[in-house]
Amino acid sequence: MGESGRAASRTAVLVCQGRAAADGRAAVGRFADPLAIRLLRDAERVPVAEVRAGTAPQGWQARVAFESVRACAEVVVPRTVAIDGALRARVTGQLVVLGAGLDTRAWRLPELARTTVWEVDHPASQQDKRARLAEAAIAPHGADENGRIAVELPVTARSVRFAPVDLTVDDLGAALDAAGHDPSQPTTWLWEGVVPYLARSEVRATVAAVAARTAPGSALVVNYQSPSARAAVGRLLTRVLGSSLTSGEPWRSLWKPQQMAALLAENGLRVVSDDDLLTLAHTLDSPALSRTSLRSGRVAVAVSH
Ligand SMILES: C[S@@+](CC[C@H](N)C(=O)[O-])C[C@H]1O[C@@H](n2cnc3c(N)ncnc32)[C@H](O)[C@@H]1O
Repeated sequence: MGESGRAASRTAVLVCQGRAAADGRAAVGRFADPLAIRLLRDAERVPVAEVRAGTAPQGWQARVAFESVRACAEVVVPRTVAIDGALRARVTGQLVVLGAGLDTRAWRLPELARTTVWEVDHPASQQDKRARLAEAAIAPHGADENGRIAVELPVTARSVRFAPVDLTVDDLGAALDAAGHDPSQPTTWLWEGVVPYLARSEVRATVAAVAARTAPGSALVVNYQSPSARAAVGRLLTRVLGSSLTSGEPWRSLWKPQQMAALLAENGLRVVSDDDLLTLAHTLDSPALSRTSLRSGRVAVAVSH
């Protein structure tokens, strides 16, 4: 449990498990996240190994964990490929990752060599990530907080700064000011896997806060979920079965592409692409059994006017 009384995000662990399961297994040559496994603890690695081996375990709980990681792996492959591509195409000196979870891009993408990365996350999740980084001996700047060199692991970004922010209550702009982000310079914003967990008003407020710090030449890469009747049935079932399947983090807002485009336009951001993950999965020839989740997951790229 973090200082704010909320536990670290379980869905952040799940998507990390998905990336670890898919690494070297799906869309090889386009998708890779070799660091994901290092951020996982022993028990979390068990379903990852089972999915990689393709051996479903016995027992209800183990089977649920297996299926969750397998389905998540399908979703994160096209999502990661799309986002990595968008970030590589729009490198700026500043990258802000909103709701960073166990994202590894600051340690993984060589294109960020001249970019300062701000990881923004709920305080409890960020604390958990920093503990995991320390355990994995992946230090934010190649050195730990006391300046000791922890490991010779390639730190691909210029530097990584952490800004603990609860997007439902905290002032994102003030936190980024305090962490040294410069709103007069172009910024690439990444918002992956977070929008569904925020209410509409919180999404609106976050976009407004982003827009207020978006200089010309900036871009926002946002992953969100669009509504679908089948997904709604799935969520209802999940609610009935209990919160273990949603890790206690229910979805709060879904956006039709035109609604998302309108929200971004109101804030001076023009959508230049918006793709669904199922189409992307097909182009990658990556597994697509979870068609409903893939079809409703989207990655949009918007640029400042
Ligand atoms: C599914 S995880 C996605 C993590 C990461 N972006 C990724 O795709 O691997 C959801 C993330 O949203 C963050 N999040 C959810 N609600 C939040 C809030 N109110 N304020 C800040 N972050 C939040 C969680 O802490 C978690 O890191």
